[in-house]
Amino acid sequence: MTVKTGIIYSSIDGQTLEICKKLRDEFLENNQNVELFSINDFNEDVTSYDRLIIGASIRYGVHNKKIIDFINTNKEQLNSIKTAFFSVNLVARKPEKNTPSTNPYVIKFFKTIDWTPNIVEVFAGKLDYKKYPFFDRIMIQFIMWMTKGPTNVNTEIEYTNWDKVTEFGTQLRNL
Ligand SMILES: Cc1cc2nc3c(=O)[nH]c(=O)nc-3n(C[C@H](O)[C@H](O)[C@H](O)COP(=O)(O)O)c2cc1C
Repeated sequence: MTVKTGIIYSSIDGQTLEICKKLRDEFLENNQNVELFSINDFNEDVTSYDRLIIGASIRYGVHNKKIIDFINTNKEQLNSIKTAFFSVNLVARKPEKNTPSTNPYVIKFFKTIDWTPNIVEVFAGKLDYKKYPFFDRIMIQFIMWMTKGPTNVNTEIEYTNWDKVTEFGTQLRNL
């Protein structure tokens, strides 16, 4: 019987989606069945999957409410299959905040939700000031200034460690 994997993402500027696409491609390269969905389009039965991976980015300190609602609504079903969760945020660019037990958003997330996936991971995202509308740009500049990051509006840095994504993919395929 073939193992069926679903990947659900919440991504505003596309970085979480990029990570999910890389994971999907690795499943495909390993001849494994995989489907990728935005949280906005996922209407399937959770239990029709053997493995479900949920990836969400942080905006102003929180993951998308739709992801939280989805997990709360499908808690029992999620507990009956293999699951993984990962968060994408900029605080994770700091080595001392880039593991599930040291990243403040991941720690807080699992304090507020009654779900324990088999694997949890966190990835640093992308900083690209020119993509942000005026208000967001000012806010991110402020957050970056507070956390000693780049504040120049021309900055475009991808902090994502793709080797870590690949390692995560290997773990997922062995789940
Ligand atoms: C409006 C806005 C708010 C953000 N808030 C935070 C935040 O509170 N903490 C953080 O670490 N990163 C924050 N980020 C950074 C994003 O998490 C990061 O850019 C990530 O790569 C976005 O992923 P996405 O493209 O999949 O949405 C924010 C980014 C934007 C544009």
